[in-house]
Amino acid sequence: MKRNRWCGWLLACSLVVAAGCSQSAPSDSDPSSSGETGEVDAAQAKETYQSNCLSCHGEKLEGGQGPSLQQVGGKYSAKEIETIIQSGKGAMPAQVSIDPEERKNLAGWLAEKK
Ligand code: HEC
Repeated sequence: MKRNRWCGWLLACSLVVAAGCSQSAPSDSDPSSSGETGEVDAAQAKETYQSNCLSCHGEKLEGGQGPSLQQVGGKYSAKEIETIIQSGKGAMPAQVSIDPEERKNLAGWLAEKK
């Protein structure tokens, strides 16, 4: 069966892709659910938020020193939020100590807040 060889290749490739992104769960290729945010690990996002953003944006995203983020997803895409976290914005300092993956996950989570 020649097909098996292709399966092997496909499997190897998807493993490489999965390892490259190292998402928490290996996703079945489901085009309908692949929005730009991808899979979001809400628990991890909250953790990242609490240790990096809470002090300025409030315990419930209600704002404080920084603006409320409760509807930030209606204003920015996940990508834009990621950029804000990475580079800062106005009076907000760049949050450089966050792991890129955690940052992406956090941005995806925030982009769902509409
Ligand atoms: C030192 C305080 C501080 C920290 C820490 C902080 N921010 Fe901010 N953030 C601000 C301030 C101040 C602004 C307003 C910036 C401006 O527009 O001038 C802001 C703006 C933003 C905005 C844009 C909001 C809007 O409506 O325009 C987003 C999104 C955001 N922060 C996300 C985050 C995330 C996510 C984290 C944690 C990774 C974080 N911030 C950590 C102070 C902070």
